Parts: sequence; structure tokens; C-alpha cells
Amino acid sequence: MTATAAATTPTEAPDSRREDLAERLFAAFLSGAELLSVDLGRRLGLYEVVRQYGPVTAAELARAAEIAERYAREWLEQQAVAGILDVAAETGQADTRRYVLPNGHASALLDPEDPANLMATAPMLTGLALTLPAVVEAYRTGGGVTYADFGTEIRHGISGLNRPVFATELPGWLATMPDVAERLTAGGSVLDAGCGVGWSSITIARTFPRTQVNGIDLDLASIVEARRNIAAAGLADRVGVDVADAAEAVDGAYDLACIFEALHDMADPVGALRSLRGALAPGAPVFVVDERVADEFTAPADEIERMQYVYSVLHCLPATMAESTAVANGTVLRAPTVRAWAEEAGFASVEELPIENDVWRFYRLNDHGGRGSS
Ligand SMILES: C[S@@+](CC[C@H](N)C(=O)[O-])C[C@H]1O[C@@H](n2cnc3c(N)ncnc32)[C@H](O)[C@@H]1O
Repeated sequence: MTATAAATTPTEAPDSRREDLAERLFAAFLSGAELLSVDLGRRLGLYEVVRQYGPVTAAELARAAEIAERYAREWLEQQAVAGILDVAAETGQADTRRYVLPNGHASALLDPEDPANLMATAPMLTGLALTLPAVVEAYRTGGGVTYADFGTEIRHGISGLNRPVFATELPGWLATMPDVAERLTAGGSVLDAGCGVGWSSITIARTFPRTQVNGIDLDLASIVEARRNIAAAGLADRVGVDVADAAEAVDGAYDLACIFEALHDMADPVGALRSLRGALAPGAPVFVVDERVADEFTAPADEIERMQYVYSVLHCLPATMAESTAVANGTVLRAPTVRAWAEEAGFASVEELPIENDVWRFYRLNDHGGRGSS
């Protein structure tokens, strides 16, 4: 054994690490499988029925949700055993027992803008599992899996997780840039690059009722869904979205260009930053919101870094590799990389904005010398 190898040998007894791993995998399996049972309920609309008609019996759930009664009974029992539903009336009989959705659970599962709503983790897990065979193939060939091929589940996973954050926090983020907020209050325009299904564009338009918002995204299915969401929000006159690559030249003189959790996904991130820089009004910045990860690789790391890596391994990296293998950053976008890309794209400075958030970091990229300058 070399001196280096000896120095890195783990100090724990091998048996304790072996057992820790076994316990960890069991806990992960249980949590993951229970999350799939949540997705089963989500796909069949079972939680809505329990909320609307609860406390319900298995027969009532089966009738209202149009599913087979035997399955309704098993799912209700499993949800209660897992502590997601409560037993409202214990009759000692499977067919007369009643189940209810506790109040807090109802909003956390069903209200799309509740900050505690993590229901979207369910389609996310399903989507990652469904695309795993294609990802395996990509690892073998060095190719990728297109964002479109990741499908509805992942699109709804991402948008469902981000929607409540945008609805509750995005106005406060923009308020940390008073010069921008002032221009948008007066009626400016915003470019939302990588807008996905449109929730960030919708929140910006709601926050600034005189502002025009234009969203672009490479993914056709996202844009089709964004148009539906914008129309349902009654904002079609002020929010427009189109399929476009942010790295292609973008026309305009925007008072703000934003990239919400999408810069790391872009195949040509420097090209995208450069094209956004070219579409700014004098003094306007680019606002980049991307993952909160450490400045350099550290292992083991905290839960957030672990989450970003697991997205990277299973989704973001293969999706970017499908477009181009040239940069292929993956999900783990570190602050020094953002600064380097911004410099290469010609920005004069990058400020990290002091916004508290467990998952994201916030960057203001200034063209021509910074805040409010023209
Ligand atoms: C993680 S999703 C985030 C979507 C949305 N901003 C949100 O926060 O819900 C990343 C998005 O970036 C889009 N995207 C990737 N590369 C792009 C590019 N070159 N130009 C425009 N959009 C791109 C993807 O299609 C996807 O919708």
C-alpha cells in the first residue's frame, strides 16, 4: 500500500459502513416507493376526491374516482399506514373505515402555489425512472437524451416544484434590484430565457402590471403549455412566449433579461449570455438564478449538493449532451463558472445578490459597468 492510499483509508470499522449503507438503501427504497404511491394517487386524482368528499370509504373513493374498489381499499390503507392520510373513523372493518386528508397535507399536495407543495417530486421521480433506460444507453454511447424525450413527467416535476417558489418569492428577488423594479413599474419589458411552462413570466407580469414579458424556450411542449397557462391567467395581452434558442441572436432592448434555473441546461451558455447581453437596454442587467452549490467539488456534501448531482446524473447532463457535448456543464453550476462565462460573454461585472434561498443562488450580470449605469 502506498503512503497516499494509507492516508485516505477510512477510519470507520468496515462493518459499520456496510450496515449504514444497507440502512440507507432501505430507507431510500421505502421513501421512493411511497413517493410512487403518491404519484399513483396524483395520476388518478385520488387526493382531490378525498379532499372533496372526505372522510371517504373505499367504495366512495372508487365510485367518485372511477377506479376498482379493491384497489381503492388497498391504496387508502397504504396511505394511512404511511401517514399521508388519516383514518377518520375506525370501524374495525375495511369496507366501512373512513379516511381523510389532514388539512396541512391537503394544501401541500393539492394547492399549486403553496410553498410547502412538493407534490411535483412524485412525477419527477416517475419521470427519472421512466427515462433511465435511455440514460443508460446515452452513458454507453456518449450521446444524450433530449429534453423533449424526458417527457411530461419531468416537465411537470420541474414546473410544479418551481411554480410556488416563483409565486411567493420572485417579486422579492426583483425588489433587491431597485433600479430594475423602478423601470418595470413604469412599464418596461422583460425577457425570460428558458421560460419553461411560463410560471416565472406570469409572476413577473402580475408583479408589474405595466410590463411586457417575452419568454423563449427550446422545448415546444413547454411553450405550448406556457401559452395555455398564460391564457388561463388572463395575461395573453402582455406575456408572449416562443420556441427559440437563447444562444441565437435575440432582438430587443429589454429592461431585464432573466434565466431561471436554465443556464446550466444550455448547450452554449456563453453564447446565450452574449445574445442576452445584446438584447438589453442601456444599464439593464441579466438576472441569473441557478443552483446553490459549493464553489468547488467536496465529497461527501450536503443534501442540496447531493440533490443537484442526482439531477445532473439522471437528467440535466444527458439533456444537455443531446444538444452538444462541447460544454455540457450538468446541473452543478458553481459560482466561479458563472463568473467565467459572464466575463467571456463580455459582461463588465457579476454581483451575487444577498437573497436567502436553500436551493438557488442569484447573480446580477452588469453590462457596461454596473447598476443603473447607462
Ligand atoms: C430546468 S428547466 C427550467 C424551466 C423554467 N425556467 C423553470 O424554472 O421552471 C430548463 C429549461 O431550459 C430550457 N432550455 C435549455 N436550453 C435552452 C436554450 N438553449 N434556449 C432556450 N431554452 C433552453 C429547457 O427547454 C427547459 O425548459
